[in-house]
Amino acid sequence: MQPPQWIIEKKRDGQALGEEDIRQFILGYAAEEIPDYQMAALAMAIYLNGMSFEETRHLVQAMMDSGDVLDTSTLKRPVADKHSTGGIGDKVSLPLAPWVAACGLDVPMISGRGLGITGGTLDKLEAIPGYRTNLSEAEMIRVIQDCGCCIIGQTKSLAPADKKLYALRDVTATVPSIPLITGSIMCKKLAESLDVLVLDVKFGKGAFMKEEAQARELASTMAKVGNLMGVSVSALLTDMNEPLGHAAGNAVEVAESVECLHGRGPADLMEVTQALGAEMLVLAKVQPDLNAANAALDQALASGAALERYNRMVELQGGNPDPAALPKARMQAPLAATKAGFVTGVDANAIGRGVLLLGAGRQQSADPVNHAVGITELVKTGDSIQEGDPLLTVHADDADTLAAALPYLEQAFAIGEIAPAARSRVVERITG
Ligand code: URA
Repeated sequence: MQPPQWIIEKKRDGQALGEEDIRQFILGYAAEEIPDYQMAALAMAIYLNGMSFEETRHLVQAMMDSGDVLDTSTLKRPVADKHSTGGIGDKVSLPLAPWVAACGLDVPMISGRGLGITGGTLDKLEAIPGYRTNLSEAEMIRVIQDCGCCIIGQTKSLAPADKKLYALRDVTATVPSIPLITGSIMCKKLAESLDVLVLDVKFGKGAFMKEEAQARELASTMAKVGNLMGVSVSALLTDMNEPLGHAAGNAVEVAESVECLHGRGPADLMEVTQALGAEMLVLAKVQPDLNAANAALDQALASGAALERYNRMVELQGGNPDPAALPKARMQAPLAATKAGFVTGVDANAIGRGVLLLGAGRQQSADPVNHAVGITELVKTGDSIQEGDPLLTVHADDADTLAAALPYLEQAFAIGEIAPAARSRVVERITG
């Protein structure tokens, strides 16, 4: 055993950490033997000096070994999940889990809360009246046996090191680090005992990885670690310069997810969700290729099977799946365009900051989130608008938060005279 500060010192000075250094630190932190201030110092040293692939692999293993692994041995179908590195308006998990469950997969999805300006699946789901995100592992397996999917928060026993470190990184400016993100995502996902994992690695203004090249490196690191640890992993690199869909917030994103399951979701959200779903079905070998997987997904949407699975999952988790039951903000106000033209860009970072200031995200890790606030009817790149047309509708609970958010929301739009070329949000497929 060496004093934790010696390990911090090594990383601070740019040396590689050994497997034992990493294990001792991470297990000590999870066991509350190493305090937050020393973990924060090591996280910052890792953020600044990086980690080799070997160090990153040991970090994933140690974080996973800080807790138990989920027992999925009673599930009969291939066990699969997807994880996103986070973005603005990224509600993909909500429609995706029941959609692929309707196509033959079992999905034990363990999700997180908002991090930085990006929203979190758990915060969104908790907008549903009655929905419980704190199911035990046994309860989770029972829900999956019934409807094929279940979305909960991290339990006490799965990857406890990440639960603590995730919250610490959020408030110490140490989120956008390839080894730390890899450790955080892969330890949770590998603890789910998956056969298949598909990663949605985002780049752009509303993502932690601003540059496509960084996101590509993150995707390939995570896929490599996962494949080495016995799970079939691939990643889609997706564009997060602009929010996904027309809504950002919590309740408003749940409502948009339900629209998606009716087959009426915004084109970009449908594209990304279906691409991830098809990838999961092919990796799990329940469909032979992407064409067949897309046909199965289309069928599950058209027949209502995907929506049925969603409704069942929400009910089994104690919630009311009717979107009419979602909380509503006190005030709704349109933000009007100040000139006519084509929308040439919608800055996801500015929208994310605005939505956070409305109260949909946290400024401090212990802050509550306001489930009702957010934005809807957001215009998309390529839309033609007239002066005075609404660019979005703001849902706010009071005048102060509205006044704080508006300058960010107003800055988000670029309007030009020439319609930009349409672009796919899915840029590349990466395997380990
Ligand atoms: N999502 C996670 O679960 N962890 C991170 O570090 C970033 C995104």
